[in-house]
Formats: sequence, structure tokens, C-alpha cells
Amino acid sequence: MNEKAPTAVALDDATVAFRLGDGRVYTAVEKANLAVAPGEFVAIVGPTGCGKSTLLNVAAGLLKPAGGNVRIFDRALPGLNRDAGYLFQADALFPWKTALDNVAIGLEIAGTPRSEAVRRAREWLASVGLAHFGSRYPHMLSGGQRKRVGLAQVLIRNPKILLMDEPFGPLDAQTRQVMGNLLLDLWNADRKAVLFVTHDLEEAIALADRVVIMSAGPGARIIGDWKVTLSRPRDIFETRMKPEFHDLHKEIWSVLKGEVMKGYAQSAQAAEAV
Ligand SMILES: Nc1ncnc2c1ncn2[C@@H]1O[C@H](COP(=O)(O)OP(=O)(O)OP(=O)(O)O)[C@@H](O)[C@H]1O
Ligand SMILES: [Mg+2]
Repeated sequence: MNEKAPTAVALDDATVAFRLGDGRVYTAVEKANLAVAPGEFVAIVGPTGCGKSTLLNVAAGLLKPAGGNVRIFDRALPGLNRDAGYLFQADALFPWKTALDNVAIGLEIAGTPRSEAVRRAREWLASVGLAHFGSRYPHMLSGGQRKRVGLAQVLIRNPKILLMDEPFGPLDAQTRQVMGNLLLDLWNADRKAVLFVTHDLEEAIALADRVVIMSAGPGARIIGDWKVTLSRPRDIFETRMKPEFHDLHKEIWSVLKGEVMKGYAQSAQAAEAV
């Protein structure tokens, strides 16, 4: 990418290190470079434990890198990234609040009058296909329905950047595809910059404009960056049938496979050392 091109999220040589309990320092990510343009959908794929969530936390301003810079819309990020909405890997709904109140809460905290927050929460619940589920508590919803509420909860605040950490991870394969199509519909209507972490290369290719691969840690880096030129709007079920999809999958997997094997070998060694 041309250096002058505007970016929504840019990591320049970002290094992230953690101090372990015994005083040692573990460098999880070393000199990672990544740029997401406004409105671009970028998927990050990499072996378990390589540093994908760490990179999202850096982009969210929750974690300060030990080296390098983070820029949001081309300005240094001084603290929390207020332009970003974060959809966590685990459910982050309040169990004591209804689906409607879970969606409305972000606006209420920001000072929107309750009646207005509730009106907009109803609209968002309808947008994610849950118009009739507003009065249910999270434990009365399926895993997929909870993810829909989570999506509405983040999108109601209209963030310019969406950070998603394996948001559909715990769902079954079919529900993941349905959720992927819902996400693509919402994104098509209002193109935000998306940084989407997933283990699933197929999901990454089906959703994203670019797929970025991370190496196994320690000192994980971004080792590959592929443009996905499959036409939009996309339907995930159909996109996965296309020959271009399979060609790209084969190409990226040839790089990713080695890193996945390294990632597993390293976790096994770490387990033996305990
Ligand atoms: N607070 C911490 N202290 C020490 N080490 C940490 C801390 N947070 C993460 N790590 C380590 O940093 C590495 C990257 O962790 P991270 O959670 O970013 O991985 P990930 O790629 O998201 O993995 P997964 O795919 O399993 O979710 C791991 O080896 C992890 O053990
Ligand atoms: Mg993670």
C-alpha cells in the first residue's frame, strides 16, 4: 500500500511484550506491520497463541506496544481507541439485562435519553433479525442469537472501526455462515474498517478484502498478505463454491500450514516444560 494512502488502523513495527510472573519477558509480537484502509475488511489468520488477540488489543488501545506505533485515522493513538467497537471472542452481554437493554446500554452510558436509546435498540435488534426477542435475557437465547445481540450492541454506537475476535468461533458451521452473511449485509450498507480475527481460513477468504497471515510466536510477525478479489456483494454459501476461492485457499494454506504446525509444536513443548 502507498504510504500516503489514508488508513483507519495502522500498526508500524508494533512489538508487544509481556512480563511473566517469574520476571522473564515474553515477546509475543515483533515488528508487526499492518494497515487497514477506511471501509476495508481485513481478516487476520494465524496459529493459536501467535498474537491475534494481542494485535486487536493494541488496535483497541487496551494494550500499549513496547515498540513501534499505532495510528488510528492517521493519528497516533494516545489511549483507548474511541473510534472502535470491539466484539470479543467470549460473550460480553450483561446476564441480568434483556437483549433490548443490552443493546441500548452503550447509548445510555454515552448520555442518550433512555427512550431514544430504546427506540434505536429496537431498530438494531430488527436489523440483526431479533425483532421479537428484545425481552429475553441472554440465557434464553441460542449462541447464534447472543452473537446477533453482541453485534447490535457494538454497531448501535456506530463505530468507524470494527474489531472482531473470532466472533463466530463457538457456533456450528451453518450458523457461522448465516452470521457471516448477516455481517456482510450490514457491512455493505455502511462500510466500516473491519479487523476480523479467525482461525478459519475459509471464513477469512469468504468475508474479507484482504487476508493477512501471522507466523507462529514468539516474536510473531505478519508474513503474508493476500487481496481477495471475489466479487461483492457476496453470499458466503455461493462464494465458497467458486474456483477462484479454492485457488486462493490453496495458495494461502500452503503458507499457513507450516505456521499452524509450528504453533502446535510450541504449545506442546510449553506444556511439557510445565
Ligand atoms: N497478559 C499476558 N501475559 C503473558 N503472556 C500473554 C499475555 N497475553 C497473551 N500472552 C501470550 O501471548 C501470546 C499471544 O496471545 P494471544 O492471545 O494474542 O494469541 P491468539 O493468536 O489470539 O491465540 P488464540 O488463537 O488461541 O486465541 C500467547 O503465547 C499468550 O500466551
Ligand atoms: Mg485469541
